[in-house]
Amino acid sequence: MKKLMIASVAATLLFSASAYALEAPAKASTCIGCHGADGNSVVPNFPKLAGQHASYTASQLKDFRDGVRKNATMAPFAKGLTDQEITDLANFYAAQQAK
Ligand code: HEC
Repeated sequence: MKKLMIASVAATLLFSASAYALEAPAKASTCIGCHGADGNSVVPNFPKLAGQHASYTASQLKDFRDGVRKNATMAPFAKGLTDQEITDLANFYAAQQAK
């Protein structure tokens, strides 16, 4: 019985984690104006994030946040993001279809 409960909790966690990855994280609302709702920006000045490797997006966001990659436009939006928020944003954009 105990094993069964553990298995069902694990399955629920797995399911909610994968469902969450496809849902836009709250912070993504601040990125829409430039990068589009699904990471497909329509303005050439703003890079597309859709379909990009999550590890690349996450490392760029950390670099902007920590001042390693300098860009006056991006810096204020990366500032204050937690590692978890960066992971969620990177996973979200990686799961989107590049158009
Ligand atoms: C005001 C417009 C603007 C907003 C809002 C904005 N960005 Fe950006 N973003 C840019 C620009 C411009 C660049 C290119 C910077 C450069 O040339 O280095 C960029 C670059 C990036 C990159 C690097 C892409 C690459 O291919 O190297 C990532 C990742 C990124 N933005 C994520 C985000 C996320 C996540 C948010 C919301 C939290 C966000 N941006 C909000 C304008 C914006």
